[in-house]
Amino acid sequence: MAVRADTDQIPLARPVLGEEEELAVIEVLRSGQLSLGPRVPAFERAFAARVGAPHASAVSSGTAGLHLALRAVGVSDGGEVVTSPFSFVASANAAVFERARPVFADIDPVTLNLDPDAAAAAVTERTAAILPVHIFGYPADIPAFERLGLPIVEDACEALGAVHPDGVAVGGRGHPAVFGFYANKQLTTGEGGMVTMSDAAMKERIDSERNQGRAPDMGWLDHDRLGFNYRLSDIAAAIGLAQLDRLDGMLAGRARVAARYGEALAGIEGLGLPCPDRGGAVRGWFVYVVQVPRGHARDDVLRALREEHGIPSKPYMPAIHLMSFYRETLGHREGEFPVCEDVAARSLALPFFPEMTDGQVERVAGALARVLGQAP
Ligand SMILES: Cc1ncc(COP(=O)(O)O)c(C=O)c1O
Repeated sequence: MAVRADTDQIPLARPVLGEEEELAVIEVLRSGQLSLGPRVPAFERAFAARVGAPHASAVSSGTAGLHLALRAVGVSDGGEVVTSPFSFVASANAAVFERARPVFADIDPVTLNLDPDAAAAAVTERTAAILPVHIFGYPADIPAFERLGLPIVEDACEALGAVHPDGVAVGGRGHPAVFGFYANKQLTTGEGGMVTMSDAAMKERIDSERNQGRAPDMGWLDHDRLGFNYRLSDIAAAIGLAQLDRLDGMLAGRARVAARYGEALAGIEGLGLPCPDRGGAVRGWFVYVVQVPRGHARDDVLRALREEHGIPSKPYMPAIHLMSFYRETLGHREGEFPVCEDVAARSLALPFFPEMTDGQVERVAGALARVLGQAP
């Protein structure tokens, strides 16, 4: 069947950008200070205040932030980092950058976050850190990981706007928490990231290591430790500041679209929907991911949505331990993390962005129902 020609194309994701971002960028261009200027600390202060963290360090990506945060809590050669196999590959890669070993543990079938009991069982005397991921913006149970008494780095790349059951915003618990600002995120700077934390010495270390190991009071050519170029530019920070101003509206837009999806998809038998907020937790909506009913091949559903209805979707996300790099280097195989593998095999990210209209949501939901043979 041909792609429908009578309707507009629905993108998978689309950032909200307006005149404020344009003006902010022009102002930086006119100032002549494109990097290491005043917008970076201004963005850091505003972001830290937003999540209730004492400090924040802006970095060039979420991946860079995870790398620096793991170094900052002491992960190094031969150490182990217990983490979720149901995440974007960067959360495990960041440990490998330091020649440490990511040790996967299975996920909770409801929240899809790292299961604290499974994580506890994976701890050894070599465990240097626990790296829980707030997957799809749903807050991980950080207090349960705190009880393990090990350093924690939170992968909050998908979780801006999320709130823990006790009312603390994700990123505000004091552990280094890493946010990502790629173009599909709740807030974007094109590429970029932020590490929030309570420890001032940790901020100093991260600020130095993102900037070639340069100490704050040294001249350009003096470096007292190994560092990287993980800086965020002033252009990106200016976009970030403008995006922060519109964050509440963008988060509300995502929550509205998610609620609409929930209603529109409720009647599809066997379809797994994102878990509702529990016990006071608030999801910071990032993506809308469903699990196709058992008995349907997810990739066939994806293909039919695209070819028969012109609707893009994504197999999001694949299990990290089954990616070829991790199979080859760490010897992982099917069957090790059954909950993660089942969820990953059935997961499908549907089009999702703050300005998605009710009509677009209904079109996606109707197409999915038809593809699954459940059209009313
Ligand atoms: C869970 C998770 N971790 C890490 C990252 C890496 O962030 P970035 O793409 O900014 O490096 C992402 C974003 O894609 C992510 O979704």
